[in-house]
Formats: sequence, structure tokens, C-alpha cells
Amino acid sequence: MMEKNKGTKTATVISIINNKGGVGKTSSTAILAELMAFLGLKVLCIDLDEQSNLSMLFHCYEEDSQEVINGVQMPEKYNISDLFRYRFRSSEDVEGIIRKTSIKNLYIIPSSKRHKNTLAYIAANETGNNNIILKKALAAVKTEFDFIFIDNAPASNILTVNSIFASDYILTPVRAEGLSYKGLRETIETIAYIKEEHGIDNVNFLGTYITQAETNTKIFRELRDTYDAELGGKFFHTPIRKDIKISEIETLFQSLLSYAPDTNAVFDYSHLLLELDILPDEKADMLKAAINERGTD
Ligand SMILES: Nc1ncnc2c1ncn2[C@@H]1O[C@H](COP(=O)(O)OP(=O)(O)OP(=O)(O)O)[C@@H](O)[C@H]1O
Ligand SMILES: [Mg+2]
Repeated sequence: MMEKNKGTKTATVISIINNKGGVGKTSSTAILAELMAFLGLKVLCIDLDEQSNLSMLFHCYEEDSQEVINGVQMPEKYNISDLFRYRFRSSEDVEGIIRKTSIKNLYIIPSSKRHKNTLAYIAANETGNNNIILKKALAAVKTEFDFIFIDNAPASNILTVNSIFASDYILTPVRAEGLSYKGLRETIETIAYIKEEHGIDNVNFLGTYITQAETNTKIFRELRDTYDAELGGKFFHTPIRKDIKISEIETLFQSLLSYAPDTNAVFDYSHLLLELDILPDEKADMLKAAINERGTD
């Protein structure tokens, strides 16, 4: 059971989206969420990707049998795919699929292999609005969290539309490589198109930042300047440097703050979190103090 804190707050919802794969969406979700939880904020992560990397990282992944994937047997526990399949919208149903992770203040709605059927389940149901299934479900638990992160698959489909509809902000990590820029433009255009097409005004594109950065290379500096010029105020200046500890935690299924609290990735993501300017003042001050304690890099 989760502790109740109803009526005192409502979560800020952030989607991490880039239809290009391997740009750091899942790592960013995990580390930003963990930093927020460390600051004492109550955070819910939603794994919208059938690859289920975030669920694995947080030890909340359950392997589906072939019978469950084929839909001929019921799963033992419901997860994100069932939220869409059965259109959960009561707080009881949505709370039922929220798992507590081993990190204090950090919760997740996990995914699993059967989530690959979700698009078909959504398409098969002809009643109701298919774009707001997630928004309706989150509305039932929003007062229990400070922040909700939605980790998207590298795709652009009805699940991405649901993620955008449910969000206050969209964040797009990108790599400093020529081809990533093309993907970034496409992603930003898709988000703008979806917003325009559906008349969603209350969702803001928060911006873009570079991940897996090799800051001493010419290509990094060139692309950073291009992103900065083209994206104007929507480009964050904190790069997330390439850090082997990120690959290590994803192999060892460890939390970054417990495994390598002094590594560059903690420092970079902390700076990024401050630059995003979404933290309550007291939490931002707490994070600044933690960064200062570590010293400059
Ligand atoms: N700053 C970093 N330094 C080093 N490795 C990183 C960094 N960020 C991410 N990685 C590694 O790059 C790979 C891709 O990262 P991640 O899974 O977060 O991307 P993604 O956008 O979620 O991918 P997908 O589109 O497949 O969901 C992972 O193996 C991860 O460990
Ligand atoms: Mg991912």
C-alpha cells in the first residue's frame, strides 16, 4: 500500500521522447527520477516501452510466458499494457499496478513483453477516446506524487500521443552526431504536429540536451552550437558527458546514487535538473548544496 497524501499536491508530468533509439531516454528518466527522489520528492516513473529497460533497472520486470503474451492466459500482475487494454481510470485500479522500487520515494508502473500487443488492443476498442487513456489513468493518482516521468519507446504512435496528452512538459535528449540532428528535428516536428492536430495547448516542449557527450571533440562543439542556434531557448547548456558508470548500472541493475555517487553523470544530471528549472525552490537549494559539497569538476 502506498501512503496517501491526497489533495495536497498534483504531480508535474514529464515525457521523455525521441523517436531515435539509444539517445539516453531511459537513462535520463532513471537518473532524473532518482535525483528527485533523493531530494525527498515522491516520483512515479511510467515505462511505456515493451523493451522494459526501465522496469528491469528498477527490479520491477516480470517475464511474460508465451501464453500470457498470446493473450490466452491472464498475467499474475497487471502492468502498463493492462492499463491501456482495460482502460484503467479508478485510483484503485491504477494504484494496483504501481510498484515501489528499492529506492525510497521512487515508484514505477512497469512494462513487459506483452506490451507489444497494446497498440492492437487500443485499435480494437472503438469506444472512448484513444488519445487520453493514460491521461485519464494518471488523473486518478496525480495527487499522490510530486513528479511523474514517462519513458517512451523509440517510436511515434498512439502511445506517444497518449504520453504527450498526459504531460505538462516534454524533454528530448539527443546525441551529438549528425544523424541525431535529423531525428531531433523530426521528433520536434512530430510533437508540434500532434499538439496542433489535437489542439493541446497546455503541454510545453521543455527542451533538448546532449547526452553521451564527448565535450573535447570538434563534432561535439559544432553540433552544440548548431543545436543552440536552431533551438534558441529550447536548448539546455548542460551536456551529459559520456560516463561508463551509466552502462555499468544498466548491466548490474544498480541505482546510480548508490553505485557511484561521485561520478560525472550524477554531477551532470544534477546540473541539468537545476537548468530545467522545475524543482521547488527548497529542493533546488538542497541540490545546489549537494553539488557544492562535491566541489567543482
Ligand atoms: N551519458 C552516457 N554515457 C555512457 N553511456 C550512456 C550514457 N547515456 C546512456 N548510455 C548508454 O547508451 C545506451 C542507450 O541509452 P538508453 O537506453 O538510455 O537510450 P534510450 O533512448 O532509452 O534507448 P531506446 O530508444 O532503445 O529506448 C545504454 O546502453 C546506456 O547505458
Ligand atoms: Mg529506452
